Amino acid sequence: MTQTAIDNLAHEDRIFEPPADLAAHANVKADEYERAAADRLGFWAEKAQLLTWETPFTEVLDWSDPPFAKWFVGGRLNVAYNCVDRHVENGLGDKVAFHFVGEPGDTRDLTYAQLKDEVSKAANALTELGVRAGDRVAIYLPMIPEAVIAMLACARLGAPHTVVFGGFSSDALASRVEDCSAKVVITADGGYRRGAPSALKPAVDAALEKLGDASPVEHVVVVRRTGQDTAIVEGRDRWWDDVVDTASPEHTPEAFDSEHPLYVMYTSGTTGKPKGILHTTGGYLTQCAYTFQAVFDHKRDTDVYWCTADIGWVTGHSYIVYGPTAMAATQVLYEGTPDTPHKGRWWEIIADKGVTLFYTAPTAIRTFMKWGREIPAKYDLSSLRILGSVGEPINPEAYVWYRTHIGGDRTPVVDTWWQTETGAHMMSPLPGVTAAKPGSAMAALPGIAVDVVDDTGKSVANGEGGYLVITEPWPSMLRTIWGDDERYKDTYWARFPGVYFAGDGAKRDEDGAIWILGRVDDVMNVSGHRLSTSEIESALVSHPAVAEAAVVGATDETTGQAVVAFVILRESAGEGGDDLVAELRSHVAKEIGPIAKPRQIMVVPDLPKTRSGKIMRRLLRDVAENREVGDATTLADSSVMDLITAGLRKPSSGE
Ligand code: PRX
Repeated sequence: MTQTAIDNLAHEDRIFEPPADLAAHANVKADEYERAAADRLGFWAEKAQLLTWETPFTEVLDWSDPPFAKWFVGGRLNVAYNCVDRHVENGLGDKVAFHFVGEPGDTRDLTYAQLKDEVSKAANALTELGVRAGDRVAIYLPMIPEAVIAMLACARLGAPHTVVFGGFSSDALASRVEDCSAKVVITADGGYRRGAPSALKPAVDAALEKLGDASPVEHVVVVRRTGQDTAIVEGRDRWWDDVVDTASPEHTPEAFDSEHPLYVMYTSGTTGKPKGILHTTGGYLTQCAYTFQAVFDHKRDTDVYWCTADIGWVTGHSYIVYGPTAMAATQVLYEGTPDTPHKGRWWEIIADKGVTLFYTAPTAIRTFMKWGREIPAKYDLSSLRILGSVGEPINPEAYVWYRTHIGGDRTPVVDTWWQTETGAHMMSPLPGVTAAKPGSAMAALPGIAVDVVDDTGKSVANGEGGYLVITEPWPSMLRTIWGDDERYKDTYWARFPGVYFAGDGAKRDEDGAIWILGRVDDVMNVSGHRLSTSEIESALVSHPAVAEAAVVGATDETTGQAVVAFVILRESAGEGGDDLVAELRSHVAKEIGPIAKPRQIMVVPDLPKTRSGKIMRRLLRDVAENREVGDATTLADSSVMDLITAGLRKPSSGE
């Protein structure tokens, strides 16, 4: 039997106890759960003291107008001061904030003192360009230090940022810039991906051209990263070098109300239009800081932390830019892909920088499993002491492989469940406290109240499944959907009145541990990234050859789920062939971004619909996953599925 086969045996029954030395010195001990349960608000008031407040708050939570929460009422603080300046004042100016590693191999260490200067200069430059507290700034950058600097500069000015993932298309950028009326866009000429410079600025130009006279953008600031030829629009566009590098490093941070907007992060929902999730200041930073030091057991003087998420996702916000810097962490920031220039790049960086805390996604772990354990085995990974997982359910095989082959069978794995909307970790084992089961996020963190309920909202018993809900407000909760309070109420607070519905299914096992089963709505999770079925369907039907489209998420060995599309062509498009399918896949990538590209597109004569016209995705999922098609009796026309499956014996699919 191979080692992998042995590893894979029966891990669902395995339980990993916290290592004794870690438990003895853990930041958070078992009693924290009880203390938090006995006085939840008192507990969060205590955790808020991890921050420095210019004006203390007078009330912990105002929940008089649910679901609109106000945390740490009356308190005032500056986020950038908390993440940067105060560390310099406390004598940590020479501590490295970021070990930046560029994909081509260039490196740059940035100390907290240098970060303070850079953030101050950027804040002065943005002020010079007319940015004031409350104005929105869009950030569309690769994983370079300027991304962190730009975000912290916005926070310093009280100008909410909206970071758009660099892999999103110009259309996706345009809709986000428009939705939040961004006054300034910060971008770069390009970044390095897969061994080559990849341009970014042309997408900004295309987005602003698309918005035309309606564009709210007054200026575009361009970081020079790759040096590639870049068109500059006179008057509108400014080089970062010209405006930031020449600005003064002196800047006095102003304190803002605890509920001042910090950022808007767009995420996919069940409709075609992405939702702008609004996070605010005091509660958000409190929970990011607390969970960072609780879940990763962060020790300021010895740990080196690396989160591989892109800054364009919420994980990059809460667990690169805000939580870790609030706790004065030393981090690695890596620009590129894990296989450039070789498949051991990440492990090489861990060995080189002595990374102790490592945070990545199951999809990456499954990719490394495919590449083989010989690759990480070539590197000294003995500095690692805690591994984290985020973004999707981690299958027990991947969990055990991660712990064994990356963590040397020593390191706890913290499986952190949370969402763009929750802002920070909500469920996770605590590495010094919780005996962890591979594949389970275990339990709510101290101060957080979750439940698994049935259709009627009643708690399920151990051993049963249901819907995951959050039953009490929490500090880093979203405050609303940007510009759409009604959608906020309907999406999260209407399914089970009075509690937050996360959109995930979950199971409580015989011991009461919680297992996340994945989304129960029309949201897919591809490589830990959220995509909505209807967003991709709208992209498909915007192509002239497509009459109708239905999209489902099918199980995929590497990416968790993969996008599979069924399309009905217009008569004018003929039968469709491989060329058209390839064109449709590229069309989706152009409309949304390469991550949304369907793995497979099937041309079908009809779609399965109920009598009320709702597409029965369950049946399409059966087809996409090569299963026998389930009960189709509620279809308006029950022969449709026969037609689809018959036609697919000769499938046209993508690569
Ligand atoms: O389905 C859950 C899954 O990712 C969703 C949230 O996606 P997003 O807002 O993009 O945030 C990702 C990073 C926090 C959730 O509704 N999810 C996230 N973490 C886990 C998870 N599913 C299972 N286990 C997790 N640890």
